[in-house]
Amino acid sequence: MSSSALTLALPKGRILEQVQEHCASKGIEFSFKDRTLVTHTADGDIRIILVKNNDLPVYVNHGIAGLGICGSDVVKESGFPFYELCRFGFGSTRMCMAARQDHDPAGDAAHLTIATKFTEFTREYFHRRGIPVQIIKLNGSVELAPVLGLSRYIVDLVETGSTLKANNLKITDILAEIHVVLICNPAYYKLHYTRVDAFVSRIKDNDP
Ligand code: PRP
Repeated sequence: MSSSALTLALPKGRILEQVQEHCASKGIEFSFKDRTLVTHTADGDIRIILVKNNDLPVYVNHGIAGLGICGSDVVKESGFPFYELCRFGFGSTRMCMAARQDHDPAGDAAHLTIATKFTEFTREYFHRRGIPVQIIKLNGSVELAPVLGLSRYIVDLVETGSTLKANNLKITDILAEIHVVLICNPAYYKLHYTRVDAFVSRIKDNDP
């Protein structure tokens, strides 16, 4: 194993399997055995740490991991100034505004009330457009908010749309496309750019 292995943070959860498959297709093989949270690629070139999605930017910002793969929503929400080195073709989703199926926008108050996990994204999106909003921060199961009357709207990621459908909600607006990206700590890039660039060439999607 190389003592100068690059360190890459990956998020637990739904994109991990897709990242693993993508890496394997590029000859970058790794696995996490027996609930371990740190592993190395088979060739020892890359040390990989497994972290909670929202903690990933914290590890990369502190340089514990120089590199990370996560959704662009996570990067935006963190507010940290990472370099985005490449964007992958898998795992794309949409950031959407949604409301109950029977929602009538004519009944909206002057301030839109929006429940979301993505408070930074939502605040910036509506403030840029001069639309007054009251944002209610939730940590999950956001779809419950309009159903139970906490808010008229939610802003959330929509992948298949099945969670919205199951809760009788409808998309009222698509706010942004979200992509899975490779990010890098800027200071780490300055120190290791030769190896980081070689890694990017290895892991990025083939040019069309
Ligand atoms: C995400 C997102 C939606 C759901 C969308 O939640 O916040 O709730 O997935 O996926 P779909 O369009 O394929 O149904 P997640 O599974 O991360 O759980 P959470 O609600 O606890 O945040």
